[in-house]
Amino acid sequence: MLRRSKMPKNTPDDAPARRLVLRRLGRRDRRYLRDHLIGLGPNGRRMRFCGQPSNEVISDYVDAIDWRHAVLIGQFDGAQLVGVAELFPTLPRWARCAELAVSVSRDWRGKGLGAALTEAALTHAQDHRIRRVTLLISPENQAMLAVAEHQGARLLPVADMVVARLRLRAVPNPVLQGIKAIVAMALPPWGRAARAV
Ligand SMILES: CC(C)(COP(=O)(O)OP(=O)(O)OC[C@H]1O[C@@H](n2cnc3c(N)ncnc32)[C@H](O)[C@@H]1OP(=O)(O)O)[C@@H](O)C(=O)NCCC(=O)NCCS
Repeated sequence: MLRRSKMPKNTPDDAPARRLVLRRLGRRDRRYLRDHLIGLGPNGRRMRFCGQPSNEVISDYVDAIDWRHAVLIGQFDGAQLVGVAELFPTLPRWARCAELAVSVSRDWRGKGLGAALTEAALTHAQDHRIRRVTLLISPENQAMLAVAEHQGARLLPVADMVVARLRLRAVPNPVLQGIKAIVAMALPPWGRAARAV
């Protein structure tokens, strides 16, 4: 069961009441994503990309996203994207694995948004039958390590990074459950007894 983290506690202190929306991003949201990632600041960029990408490299990264498979869940404050969880299913698809990266705008950090976005992405992954999720985290990144640990991740040091591995529980498939119930009812009593053993 995924840990139910609280939704972000409050908006930045100086923020007037604005419209907060949590939703999935699509191709048309590229400019919001670009602005958000460029606005992370030098340290945030280093933590997010494990390097120091230029604005152009970030822009190319956004343009290269495969929106048919990637799942991006973003928190908007009015027209500004203030946090995003990026879930990328990896190949081969039958292995049901995905990589996750999370980022939160500087003004919004430390308010529970990173944890809430991570939870939203993991819930989506679980609902879509993804079984393993991996995050690549810098060992200095205490906040992201805390989020991963709270979700039950196994943390493995690899080179100068930490790989966080999460195993998701399979959600019972209602169609399969129904078929199993019908088959069980159709079995003769001795068959049922054998199945129950
Ligand atoms: C990592 C990041 C997404 C976390 O988001 P956030 O909204 O600031 O985190 P939250 O407020 O949800 O806090 C999550 C946990 O980290 C802890 N935490 C937050 N900031 C922290 C800090 N600076 N140092 C140590 N722990 C911190 C919180 O206490 C919380 O733990 P708790 O549940 O035990 O209280 C955000 O800091 C960020 O965008 N950083 C730059 C990009 C990045 O590092 N991405 C990760 C790539 S995988």
